[in-house]
Amino acid sequence: MRVTMIGAGYVGLVSGACFADFGHVVTCVDKDPSKIAKLKDGRMPIYEPGLEQLVATNVREGRLFFTEDAAESIQDSDAVFIGVGTPSRRGDGHADLSYVYAAAEEIADLMDGYTVVVTKSTVPVGTGDEVEARMRKRRPNADFAVVSNPEFLREGAAISDFKRPDRVVVGTEDERARNVMRELYRPLYLNETPIQFTSRRTSELIKYAANAFLAVKITYINEMADLCEAVGADVQQVARGMGLDNRIGGKFLHAGPGYGGSCFPKDTLALVRTAQEARSPIRLVETTVEVNDRRKRDMSRKIINAMGGDVQGKTIAVLGLTFKPNTDDMRDAPALDIIPALIEAGAHVRAFDPEGMHEARKMLQPGVEYAEGPYQCVSGADAIAIVTEWDQFRALDLDRMKAAVKTPLIVDLRNIYNPAEMKAKGFRYISIGRGEA
Ligand code: NAD
Ligand code: UGA
Repeated sequence: MRVTMIGAGYVGLVSGACFADFGHVVTCVDKDPSKIAKLKDGRMPIYEPGLEQLVATNVREGRLFFTEDAAESIQDSDAVFIGVGTPSRRGDGHADLSYVYAAAEEIADLMDGYTVVVTKSTVPVGTGDEVEARMRKRRPNADFAVVSNPEFLREGAAISDFKRPDRVVVGTEDERARNVMRELYRPLYLNETPIQFTSRRTSELIKYAANAFLAVKITYINEMADLCEAVGADVQQVARGMGLDNRIGGKFLHAGPGYGGSCFPKDTLALVRTAQEARSPIRLVETTVEVNDRRKRDMSRKIINAMGGDVQGKTIAVLGLTFKPNTDDMRDAPALDIIPALIEAGAHVRAFDPEGMHEARKMLQPGVEYAEGPYQCVSGADAIAIVTEWDQFRALDLDRMKAAVKTPLIVDLRNIYNPAEMKAKGFRYISIGRGEA
């Protein structure tokens, strides 16, 4: 099949490369010339494990192309995917659909012959109807179907998530479109991945329902962690005891500084708005949004309190900036709340992240000092804050760390060390939902 992917970001680029790897001929289109120039040059605009090699292989084999100009590719395509951003609209939290509609209108102008237009971006219920109406208005006689096919991949594990998903959801009532989607996902079909065909609106809602549920699950264990601290219990044991119940499951029960990233924060907010407008508010998700926002802000207070309540003139080493490991994505990362608050309180912040510093420099204020590695970062520090659980922070040489710092205090917001072992090494160790060591 011939496929065009509009938007070559985290989702578009990974999906495009994976579809090419399935054997389809894919053209990824992006309006950002610097992205396309990098991709044509074999360089990745984002950090995602395995992506560079996957792209290189498929480019070499003549199945994957990059362009700024969608015209030729759209004309020839059986399916055109919309994988552009749907950020929170400033002020009201609704999803900003302007990029989606612009892409749809561009497709309408260019498509030729029966075309399946697939929304892969996360879009509120009813967006497919609006996309179809806008396209129909521009091309009243064109032969096309608008399908919802939400994406469930996670950054950092995006390729395996795309190639071995728990399920694929396809929202359409058009039988020809279903056949095109079956053919596109044929390798998964053969692997017996469940492919759920639904109505377009149901498919759109499944995506929000799933993301919001995961956000609620994380927030639940985060509040449980606070209770553990208050009553002297261990949240990791609580999570394990809960997660061993198959009805609950152990995943997404890792307490931390609050969920971040480009999706959970904006998608929970958009779902809240959709539900309010439909006069069917989801109060559980409204509360989750509030609790998570407050939690991210409160994390700086946890660090300041651990340092005796006054950080004026003190140096705090921050290990990890991205919202999770194995990505360079800084969107809504807890570090973006924590670091400015520490600086505001008078601290000097020195930070290190294996992949996120380029993005972080754009998003954090100029006062932050960036280190070249974890040991340089902690050198002479009054405290260490672990904010993202990169593997390289799990295996630090603790003797070397202790020798480098001024005060052996670690505030670990990701629970990556064992409190008793840290105590034995001579650190004061404060983590999430576990007693202080
Ligand atoms: P992104 O910001 O990384 O990429 C979007 C890209 O689209 C940008 O490169 C932008 O230049 C390009 N673009 C915008 N309008 C365009 C147009 N008219 N023509 C060509 N290119 C255009 O965004 P992302 O993280 O890939 O997310 C895209 C969508 O997928 C969002 O709706 C998001 O919620 C959803 N999603 C993201 C993830 C994830 O892990 N990032 C996972 C599942 C779903
Ligand atoms: C999330 C979903 O997991 C994907 O299924 C979905 O496709 C994607 O959003 C999306 O719609 O864009 P992602 O944001 O890449 O993927 O990352 P997650 O692994 O879900 O982590 C999100 C946030 O929750 C991170 O800040 C992470 O640190 C936090 N988290 C996650 C926890 O605090 N505890 C956990 O147990 C799990």
